[in-house]
Amino acid sequence: MRVLHVAAEIFPLVKTGGLADVLGALPQALIGQGADARLLLPGLPAIVDAVSHQKVVFEIGPCFGAARVTLRLGRMPYSKVPAYVVDAPHLYRRPGSPYQASDGSEWPDNAQRFALLGWVGAHLASGELDPAWMPQVLHAHDWHAAMSCAYLAAHPPATVATVFTVHNLAYQGLFPSGDFALLGLPARFMAPSGLEFHNQLSFMKAGLKFAQHVTTVSPTYAKEIATHEFGFGLDGVIRGRGADVSGVLNGVDGTIWDPATDTGLAARYSADQLAGKARCKQALQAELGLAARADAPVFGVVSRLTSQKGLDLVLAALPGLLQRGAQLALQGAGDPALESAFVAVAKANPGKAAVRIGYDEAFAHRLIAGADAILVPSRFEPCGLTQLYGLRYGTLPVVRRVGGLADTVVDSTESALHEDRATGFTFDAATPAALDAAIQRAIDTHAQPERWRQLMRRAMAQDFSWAGAAQKYMALYDELASRQASLR
Ligand code: ADP
Ligand code: GLC
Repeated sequence: MRVLHVAAEIFPLVKTGGLADVLGALPQALIGQGADARLLLPGLPAIVDAVSHQKVVFEIGPCFGAARVTLRLGRMPYSKVPAYVVDAPHLYRRPGSPYQASDGSEWPDNAQRFALLGWVGAHLASGELDPAWMPQVLHAHDWHAAMSCAYLAAHPPATVATVFTVHNLAYQGLFPSGDFALLGLPARFMAPSGLEFHNQLSFMKAGLKFAQHVTTVSPTYAKEIATHEFGFGLDGVIRGRGADVSGVLNGVDGTIWDPATDTGLAARYSADQLAGKARCKQALQAELGLAARADAPVFGVVSRLTSQKGLDLVLAALPGLLQRGAQLALQGAGDPALESAFVAVAKANPGKAAVRIGYDEAFAHRLIAGADAILVPSRFEPCGLTQLYGLRYGTLPVVRRVGGLADTVVDSTESALHEDRATGFTFDAATPAALDAAIQRAIDTHAQPERWRQLMRRAMAQDFSWAGAAQKYMALYDELASRQASLR
């Protein structure tokens, strides 16, 4: 099965969130299942610099406002997965975030930048750019890659099957309708049945409308996005796709996230050898200036600080958490108001609450290993990876029961404990009181070391491997590709 993954982020080169982790692991997992998987990535500086053995595949010439566009094929560092790189210096060779300037404003030419990525994806998939390789399936991720589905729809007959994965419906790639003229698509595409969304141009709709199949990153989120509450105005479009929408849960990359082999930790540990986790906790408390107390449960947060993540609930529940003798360790960056609120809390509670603003991959590992519990009180969560890392590291998740969080954490109810199924603590209402009650239950359970260890062992025994997800994607690709073949 030849499959081309089109995306704007990839761990460890370009990452703003879990999307990068997925692209860093899924293609390799598919190769492990026998697929011929390749990547198509924009030529952002970190990508152009790191992809090895790059050879020119096609000189595309000037387009989308770029004077020169060259398609090269090379290999990812570490994984060696083959990767096509769209080298368009005028559009992509910019420092920092793939989407924003350093002042936080969106790059003004994002429509052209990500239309180009989609255009190259479509033409590569049609066999026009690389005579040596043509995918059977094009798999586009999030709005950044969604336009490939529209360009393929504009140039039938396409023989390639298409899958579009929604990692987060909140980010839609909306542009002024006037930008449509830059795309080179027939006028009929700028209609409600196409890319038009309330008089704007929506790249997300290109994927939702024109991909043969739409997936999201958890089964529950696949159902939620068909509702008004979680649909961000696109629930009608999603309902319109009926059975063409399904959920495939993300996995954990065990080569990156495994406490038994994680060399960045103060000590390594496993479900059978938990002593190392206590050392990691001591080291974290020392590193953050938290009181060196083994009995104080440390609640960790590693997160983008945005309204999605519900961290305002943590701020509200924090006085209760600290009063009960627990500690907070937070690593995050994002909304300036949330950043300064957390910094103020840390200042007011020395030794009890520690906050690090910024992005630090290595510290995220130390924090998740050293904490006892990880808080993920999201308003919505397509999948969520930090709770999966928490489970793997025996750091019990305290999560709101939405999206992928609902699909991955089993609440410590009496019956779940009795049946040895419980792996964490869940709550329903997005209110400080509901979070507070879940935190209280976690603190009470932490005071019963035998019970807490039982939960840790059950959490660490969960298998969220990428191999399982890759098998599900392979079955989907097979079905879609054979449907396409029967149309020929
Ligand atoms: P999202 O993609 O919505 O941000 P996920 O839970 O899927 O949420 O993925 C977040 C990823 O980003 C995880 O790998 C997490 O460890 C990482 N991450 C988030 N914030 C930080 C940070 N401030 N420092 C280091 N890693 C972070
Ligand atoms: C998005 C979602 C997150 C998910 C990630 C990877 O960023 O917010 O829930 O885990 O994509 O699929």
